[in-house]
Amino acid sequence: MGETEVRVLSESEYREANELFRRALLFPLADDEQWASSSQRMEPGRVLGAFLDGELAGTALSMTSSLTVPGGAEVPAAAVTGVAVRADSTRRGLLTGMMRFQLDDAARRGEVVAMLHASEAGIYERFGYGVASRVRNVEVDRSRARMRRSVPRGGRVRLVSQEQAAQLMPALYPKCARDRAGWMHRPDGWWPGRSAVLNKSQAVAVHADESGTDDGFAVYQPRGESSTVDVWDLVAANDVAAIELWRFLLDIDLVTTVAGFERPVDEPVEWWLTDRRACRTTGVSDDLWVRLVDVGAALRARTYGRGEPVVLEVVDEFRPANTGCYRISPDGATTCDDAPQLTLDAAALAALYLGDQTASALATAGLVQVHDPQALTDADLLFPLQRPPWCGTGF
Ligand SMILES: CC(C)(COP(=O)(O)OP(=O)(O)OC[C@H]1O[C@@H](n2cnc3c(N)ncnc32)[C@H](O)[C@@H]1OP(=O)(O)O)[C@@H](O)C(=O)NCCC(=O)NCCS
Repeated sequence: MGETEVRVLSESEYREANELFRRALLFPLADDEQWASSSQRMEPGRVLGAFLDGELAGTALSMTSSLTVPGGAEVPAAAVTGVAVRADSTRRGLLTGMMRFQLDDAARRGEVVAMLHASEAGIYERFGYGVASRVRNVEVDRSRARMRRSVPRGGRVRLVSQEQAAQLMPALYPKCARDRAGWMHRPDGWWPGRSAVLNKSQAVAVHADESGTDDGFAVYQPRGESSTVDVWDLVAANDVAAIELWRFLLDIDLVTTVAGFERPVDEPVEWWLTDRRACRTTGVSDDLWVRLVDVGAALRARTYGRGEPVVLEVVDEFRPANTGCYRISPDGATTCDDAPQLTLDAAALAALYLGDQTASALATAGLVQVHDPQALTDADLLFPLQRPPWCGTGF
């Protein structure tokens, strides 16, 4: 089997780890320019290596971030990325070792949740991660897309230079949070990666309101030789800014299709158009996978709907300290010794946590065991589906 060890890497080991990661993901290796930006997301103390017989064979990193939860509180969060095991060293427990090390580290740092985007859906549930939000991809046929006259207008959209965009986006982004559950703080080390892409082929449009205050931006890019424009990042502090950015994109000459990626599932583009079928959903997929590192703290951080109190039993095999009963009521969450009415594991709780799924839906999959049927109805009221959570940040 071989000797395995997980430890924090030193800065001199980061590039080797990045090469390992890129090879495992079947990406070309980073050139010096790409490395100059991607190395900035590596925070000292947060880049891990897994060693097999003394040789680096796996890596994972996390960035210091935060996550907005239902009710609007922001909880400290570990943004996990750069996860890979060398193709000749898989299925020997290296990932498991790194996940354990990383979650213990997040707990020591006081991080209430960990979060990631998964390359494959089969990997992370065993470590207690659950799909907590979803995104949709859309394509809008520009020749048919006319905005209804009733859709509000206001302010002005302008294109900015790449240097201006690099300055402006990090300052503007936090203003666009709008209390949306799933929204994350983009770590300082994340932005250089965005700017590096910008320097190549992307353009940035910024919306300012009537008073001249910037309140949204869109990053877009022509797709190869085609007349499609891909929209990779569109955030806005209010509805008018979002609408005007879309209106701008749909007005660009020579474009036939505007494709929006990883958009909120409730973005009402169809309602803005006179011909709703000009906007086609091309896919809905999982967005943020969340792991409640400290279940008690995570449950206390969010708010609840109106319903009779429910006792949830959480079974957390990977982090057993979380296992126990939690009483959830409209006033909040507390640990308790009462008899459980519903039982679920950490991954199922994560799927409930941001309000993307109901307990009843998870129960149909056997992911919530129901000891008291009334409690399931109450849990649906306490963990209501509200505005769909959305992260929208690739990391
Ligand atoms: C995914 C990856 C990191 C797994 O690493 P690993 O060291 O082989 O994982 P482990 O040996 O710790 O496996 C733990 C368990 O997960 C399972 N597992 C691992 N990768 C899996 C996958 N891709 N799909 C389904 N199950 C998987 C293993 O079978 C094992 O199950 P078991 O506990 O029932 O035996 C590795 O295969 C890899 O680097 N893949 C390519 C890059 C990638 O996808 N990275 C993830 C980016 S989000």
